Amino acid sequence: MKGLILSGGHGTRLRPLTHTGPKQLIPIANKPVLFYAIEDLKEAGITDIGIILGTNMPEKVKEAVGDGSKFDVEITYIMQGEPKGLAHAVSVAHDFVGNEPFVMYLGDNILKSGINEFVEGFEESEFDARILLQKVDEPERFGVAELNEKGEVTHLVEKPNEPKSDLALVGIYLFKSTIFEAIKKIKPSWRGELEITDAIQEFLNSQKKVDSHIVKGWWKDTGKPEDVLEANHLILDWLEASNKGKIEDGVKIHGRVNIDTGSVIRKGSVIRGPVIIGKNCEIDAYIGPYTAIGDNTRIIGGEIESSIVVGDSLIECEKKIVDSLIGNHSCIVSIGNRLPKGYRFVIGENSFVNL
Ligand code: TTP
Repeated sequence: MKGLILSGGHGTRLRPLTHTGPKQLIPIANKPVLFYAIEDLKEAGITDIGIILGTNMPEKVKEAVGDGSKFDVEITYIMQGEPKGLAHAVSVAHDFVGNEPFVMYLGDNILKSGINEFVEGFEESEFDARILLQKVDEPERFGVAELNEKGEVTHLVEKPNEPKSDLALVGIYLFKSTIFEAIKKIKPSWRGELEITDAIQEFLNSQKKVDSHIVKGWWKDTGKPEDVLEANHLILDWLEASNKGKIEDGVKIHGRVNIDTGSVIRKGSVIRGPVIIGKNCEIDAYIGPYTAIGDNTRIIGGEIESSIVVGDSLIECEKKIVDSLIGNHSCIVSIGNRLPKGYRFVIGENSFVNL
């Protein structure tokens, strides 16, 4: 079985962060979201992995992932170019996939429980596809599946006005190579994209069988800033405490805090976990729960919590920063101003904010 990770797309909902790189490289607990997909595939025994690249700085994905050897997998890069839909992305991978069954994994999705159970038994089964589903509160916002009593899919509807089920499609699918024929038969949707749900519906129309599996634990699509912060929260709930840096006397550490090499926590700082701090950081501040601080960052004074600092940044102010997503090479300083507390940021790379 092969793996196919979709790492194209425009990522418009994550601007300005996606002005300087693909969204699949945004770190969740200091690790690019795309790496979680690679690790899930590897964990399920799938080591021959294709990565679909789009037009938004694909070289950055190649640079981050390399040939796959650091994950103990083999990576093949496949150029999609303009994002013409999930089914289009799959169709450009036909040569890579060949006649094998494969997992299609959206590169901005993250799953608590991995894909081992989902993948089990599919290769030798009678099914042409197996879809991953999760119960959701507002099914009208998702692609929704209707199932029969055996758990087989009978119907798929994109964002139904009156949903007949609360089972939404999660961005991970299993296909046999017959999907390429189904994709050839579909037409672009109203939004001009070749939709993977239409290709699966094409299977159902031609009496092919589609199986389903319901996610255990959480699943998160990190398409929007609030989703990225929520995924960070969920992953940090699993963080293990460790310290490879230097903690000066008089620092208060509560809960699970993970500090990487070369980082220094200055006297008087308070760190309330779960918090992860990357390499070569300097912290002289209050760092609150659910915060991830990337490499080469200095935080001097003030407070920060429930936030992601991607890295290479300076935050030097006496304010409280909350629920913020701060891109690479940002600088937030406070020079002689008295303004109200509690600012909220979504800041791209190379930003400069003077409060
Ligand atoms: P989306 O989040 O649906 O699309 P997008 O990345 O263009 O984002 P936005 O709506 O904010 O502009 O895509 C889901 C995943 O699939 C994501 O990892 C990108 C990937 N993708 C492709 O690789 N090729 C495509 O043609 C599309 C539409 C998405």
